[in-house]
Amino acid sequence: MLRIESMNIDLAGHSVLRGVDLELAPGQTVAVVGRNGAGKTTLLRAVMGLVAPRAGRLLLDGQDITRSPASRRAAAGFGYAPEDRVILPTLSVAQNIALPCEVLRLPRHEIGRRIDAVLASVPQLEPMLSRSGAALSGGQGKIVALARALMVGVRFVLLDEPFQGLAPALARQYGDALRALRVSHPQLCVVVTESNAALLDAVQSRTLYIERGAVSETTSAAA
Ligand SMILES: Nc1ncnc2c1ncn2[C@@H]1O[C@H](COP(=O)(O)OP(=O)(O)O)[C@@H](O)[C@H]1O
Ligand SMILES: [Mg+2]
Repeated sequence: MLRIESMNIDLAGHSVLRGVDLELAPGQTVAVVGRNGAGKTTLLRAVMGLVAPRAGRLLLDGQDITRSPASRRAAAGFGYAPEDRVILPTLSVAQNIALPCEVLRLPRHEIGRRIDAVLASVPQLEPMLSRSGAALSGGQGKIVALARALMVGVRFVLLDEPFQGLAPALARQYGDALRALRVSHPQLCVVVTESNAALLDAVQSRTLYIERGAVSETTSAAA
């Protein structure tokens, strides 16, 4: 269980997240819906330890991890697929998705085991594995970024606007992969941000709305 308590984040002197109180529990697929600039990316980066809160705390199973670095989050089972994908062009797809595990110094057989497990949920990755990271379309890059997040995200997987710009066929495949994960990894907590809530209709179990840096379970826009 991850608990966010009264978290405030400032960027360049501006208040970007305000008084965020949130619990993320195992087994949930949480949609975080909000328009551009609402603070979705900043929320995910804060959970990953990539941006430090001005105030508030993050508790993982009751333990304060507010100041623990991003590398420690990965080791604790947090995976992150950033909005801009960040696939390294000089590595193969297989090397790209293994990279966070290499950083954690996981043994080779464990990395192989995890690749097999990811392929079971994301079968469309298989034909891409030997390809160069430079040879991917934007949509394929999103699939690879999902796979890379799953390699370390054994407890929490944070996906930043994965459906944005995906062609309909790829978006359907991506949704299928998320539904397959629900079945194969029932304890996983998946957080997906989106500016268009309709894209997540078939996927999420819970929806959070983020408006000007404030997170709530309801939206004023629904009125
Ligand atoms: N590095 C930064 N420096 C200053 N302001 C930023 C920075 N990154 C984001 N912001 C601002 O924070 C707000 C939230 O941004 P972001 O979390 O990227 O929103 P979203 O992902 O919902 O589009 C926006 O107003 C944005 O301009
Ligand atoms: Mg964003």
